[in-house]
Amino acid sequence: MYDFLFDILNFVLPLLKPKGMYKIIFKPLLFLFEPETVHHKILNFLKFSHRIPFISVLLRTFFMPKNEAKPVEVFGLHFKNRVGLAAGFDKNAEAVDALSNFGFSHIEIGAVTPRPQPGNLKPRLFRLPKDKALINRMGFNNQGVENAIKNLKKRCSDIIVGANIGKNTDTPNDKANDDYILLFKKLYDYVDYFTVNVSCPNIKDLKELQDKDSLLELLTELKKINATKKKPKPILLKISPDLTNEQLDDTLYIIQQTNIDGIVAVNTTAQRYNLSYGKQEIDKIGNGGLSGLPLKDRATEMIRYIHQKTQGKLPIIGVGGIMTRKDVQEKLDAGATLVQVFTGFVYEGPGIVRKLTRTSIK
Ligand SMILES: Cc1cc2nc3c(=O)[nH]c(=O)nc-3n(C[C@H](O)[C@H](O)[C@H](O)COP(=O)(O)O)c2cc1C
Repeated sequence: MYDFLFDILNFVLPLLKPKGMYKIIFKPLLFLFEPETVHHKILNFLKFSHRIPFISVLLRTFFMPKNEAKPVEVFGLHFKNRVGLAAGFDKNAEAVDALSNFGFSHIEIGAVTPRPQPGNLKPRLFRLPKDKALINRMGFNNQGVENAIKNLKKRCSDIIVGANIGKNTDTPNDKANDDYILLFKKLYDYVDYFTVNVSCPNIKDLKELQDKDSLLELLTELKKINATKKKPKPILLKISPDLTNEQLDDTLYIIQQTNIDGIVAVNTTAQRYNLSYGKQEIDKIGNGGLSGLPLKDRATEMIRYIHQKTQGKLPIIGVGGIMTRKDVQEKLDAGATLVQVFTGFVYEGPGIVRKLTRTSIK
């Protein structure tokens, strides 16, 4: 019945669809409100929409990529296209099924921490529309791993789900491995891959876990647990764009030593570059990670470096500033196998995956 409805809508709606409706009508309206409020409202709408099959059908008709998108096999998983939703958008895995209607091949939930935590004080998310950028200092706000599991158990779409895992803010670094191990064990049955997040700029001292010894210990422990499983799951590491080449070399050495499955490049940057706003305006926002267009070239540069250093053997998920098909192509040319978007989803709207997966993507 719904398939029939889907076919009819697929035929009729494109005839009605005004080009660029999101940019012309919805975005200006949404941007009138405080960014985090909009984010929550959208997640709530998505959750609600999934209970009404007709809305899901509508969303799929409008936004699902056509058959042009090419599937790809990476670390043993079959991705229906190369574009995923980056971590931070659906921290609690509340809207995985609804988000699958937008055509993503995978969704990275989280960052999930063992215990619920409120994150930093609000306001903590800021738009920089002239630069298609965001600054956030959310601070791993999430409802904890038990809640994420409760939500993941309800999931009915077959979209690939990765878990972005992080430690609780009040867990001291010398106990951080316990948090990551607990998360890995608890989420193991409910997700398809893991991303170890030690690169968020908004958690005090977190980046110390990127240091050689700490990272080696953590990844070795996770690999050991993974090896006891009947079907080990891919483990990836998400890195900061603020690593120096020397730090990145160390990280790649550890990845090689521990033989983890891939890298997600990159997280947000604590730097402030490629911005057209004045220093005063930017300083007024305060600390936080910058994402979106200003990050694009740095992300691509890091992907290229990693690809060269690893002779193309390490799967890379490229993320940072992707808005257009050309941006995707740049990331793929630099050596990424998959890409993810976050800020692009905010600025380009729900049709972004359809746009990014059109034929020019190899
Ligand atoms: C509001 C917000 C929250 C984020 N939360 C997380 C997170 O919890 N874990 C993580 O690894 N990355 C997080 N990120 C970073 C994104 O996953 C992504 O790496 C970064 O934004 C660069 O991609 P983009 O330019 O497409 O946004 C967050 C980004 C934003 C804007």
